[in-house]
Parts: sequence; C-alpha cells; structure tokens
Amino acid sequence: MTTATAPAKIILFGEHAVVYGRPAIAVPVTHVQASATVEAGPPGSGCTLIARDVDRTVHLADDAPDDPLAAIVRVTLGHLNAPEPDVVITIHSTIPIASGMGSGAAVSTAIVRALTAHLGHSINNEAVSSLVFEVEKLYHGTPSGIDNTVIAHARPVFFVKNKFMETFALRSPLRILIADSGIRSSTRAVVEDVRKAWEANRGRYDSLFMSIGQIAVMAHAALEGGEQSALGALMDGNHWLLRQLGVSSDELDRLVQAARRAGALGAKLSGAGRGGNAIALVTEETLDAVTAAMVEAGAKQVIPTLVT
Ligand code: PMV
Repeated sequence: MTTATAPAKIILFGEHAVVYGRPAIAVPVTHVQASATVEAGPPGSGCTLIARDVDRTVHLADDAPDDPLAAIVRVTLGHLNAPEPDVVITIHSTIPIASGMGSGAAVSTAIVRALTAHLGHSINNEAVSSLVFEVEKLYHGTPSGIDNTVIAHARPVFFVKNKFMETFALRSPLRILIADSGIRSSTRAVVEDVRKAWEANRGRYDSLFMSIGQIAVMAHAALEGGEQSALGALMDGNHWLLRQLGVSSDELDRLVQAARRAGALGAKLSGAGRGGNAIALVTEETLDAVTAAMVEAGAKQVIPTLVT
C-alpha cells in the first residue's frame, strides 16, 4: 500500500494578471490536503479509482474520457511508460471544491506521487507539476500553471507563466485566514470573462495587469524581508485592482471589508473570484476577532493557516 498527500494552495498576489504574463505569488496551505492510496487489486482487475467524498468510482478500462481522475492516471502511466496496473486508488480530500484552493491539482498531485511510488519509480517536483498541468489544461481551458507549480513544489512560489518559477523562503511565517464565501465559482468562466473584457479594452486591462504585477514584485520583496504591514497594504491594493477587473463580488467585498475593520493587516479575494475565497493577513492577537467578523459577514467556513 502506498499513500501520498498534497497540500491546497492560495494565490497571495497576482491572480488573473498571471494569465497575461505578469508575476504572481502562491503559497501552499497544509491545513487541508488531498491524499491518494494505491493498493494492489485482483489480477486482471485493471485500475479502479474510488473518491468517496464526491461519491465516484471510475474504472480506467471504461475509457471515461471526461474524467479528470482517469486522465491523471493515464498521463502518469504514459510518463512512466507503464501498462495499466491492477490497482485500487482511493482518494480523499479535505480541500473545499471550486473555491480557488486548487483541490483538483492537489488530488492529481497525490495520485501522480502515490502511483509512481507504488510502481517503484521516483519522480521530481518539476515532472509532477507538468503531468498535473496536462490535466489542468483539459479541465480549465488556459490555466497559467501556477496551481500545479505551487502544489507540486509545496513551497511558496514566485511565478511567471512559461518563463520563470522560483520557490522562496518567507522571512517570517504568515498567519492567513481563508474565508469561504460559500459561492462556487468556475475559474474557466471568470477567466473567459476577463479575456472578453481585455479584448474590448486592451489599454485599460493591460495597465491593470501591469499594476497587479508590480504589486506582486513588491510583495515578493516584502515576504523575503518579513515586512508584514507592507504586505497587508499590498493585499488591499491588489484587491482594489481585482475589483477594477470585475472579478470581485458583493459577498467577497463584504468579507474583505469586515476583515480590515476587525484589524486584519490586509485582505483580498484569492483565486478566480466572483465566489470562492477571501483571504486576510492577521496576527495572533487579531486572529479571533477577524475570524468572528468574517463569519458575521457571511463566511461559510474560515480556515486558519500558518504559511512558513
Ligand atoms: O484556480 P483558482 O481559482 O485559484 O484561480 C486561478 C487563478 C487565475 O489566475 C484566475 C487563473 C490561472 O490560471 O492562473
């Protein structure tokens, strides 16, 4: 029996602009995670995937062309040049679905790692990331690649699409609250809407993307320098720019405002927007008050995490 896990993620700075080549920063969230366990199955049974959380069982032999679980197994076997093994892969995840925490990429990452180890191979983070990216492309249209990168490396990343990726160390840990608006949002749909708006008004959108990218660059320096209050202000600025892009919502704005009023150093939406999560940077002293304020403002769940 072989088990592997993968963390969730949040984008701290630069979502959407990252699709247009601007830098972004994402960090792993280890308080919630996906796991995959591979066990030998009866001879001739082929590969079966069981995801009880979402009430799904998939047999690879059934072809299941539209299934992301089957797809990640296929690309992994292709990479290893291995025939379909007789195995049962059991998947479990505590990561909220469709809320910008990378649940799909985390499940894929856990499957790649568990299956590869079970078949006696080793694989580096870069290769895990590109296999997961193959499947992300099938289901999310034109992803930037930041989700698979941060989850496969399980470290903070400074990322520029197709150009540059650097994992880096934070000078001091970040206490972040992740507040779920309870509204599921399709990354693909929001990314498409932003593209249409960009096509209709390239000048305005390019300049918003550029400003977001500049914030990500400053945030990278602030994270490496441990300047928490500067980071808070940069989160506020990034949220304002995301509102100009049209990807926030009343619910997310309410969560962000409530967090700031209750003493957060800064707050913003995280991920594709419209629904999903708002994140707030807090201290040990403000943690409880900001959590309560975000619940009061409509958060369905507030996940605290310490990013190191
Ligand atoms: O998948 P989410 O909700 O974390 O958001 C993805 C971030 C975007 O920048 C909006 C899209 C992308 O592919 O980077």
